[in-house]
Amino acid sequence: MANEYRIFVANKSREYLCRHGQNILSSSIEQGVRVIKRGCLGGGCGFCKIRVEAGQYELGKVSIKALPAEERKEGFVLACKTVPLSDLVIRISGD
Ligand code: FES
Repeated sequence: MANEYRIFVANKSREYLCRHGQNILSSSIEQGVRVIKRGCLGGGCGFCKIRVEAGQYELGKVSIKALPAEERKEGFVLACKTVPLSDLVIRISGD
């Protein structure tokens, strides 16, 4: 199992590393890659919604209002509750 994963932000041409077990929002903040909107940091507001285009991940408990089931099926996640299990390619929503 890798100690860290590479997170490539496709529509911003940015890349950063995320430690194993860390969520992809906090790792981006830690590394000063401020491309994902932040809000509650607890899976409730939906500000950090992004789409995963490639890779494996685990999504923690999130508000169904912030992330409806249909959006999950399309690959949308809440970055503050998403932990990578492989390198990921993500896309920032709204761009
Ligand atoms: S920051 Fe509020 S759901 Fe992620």
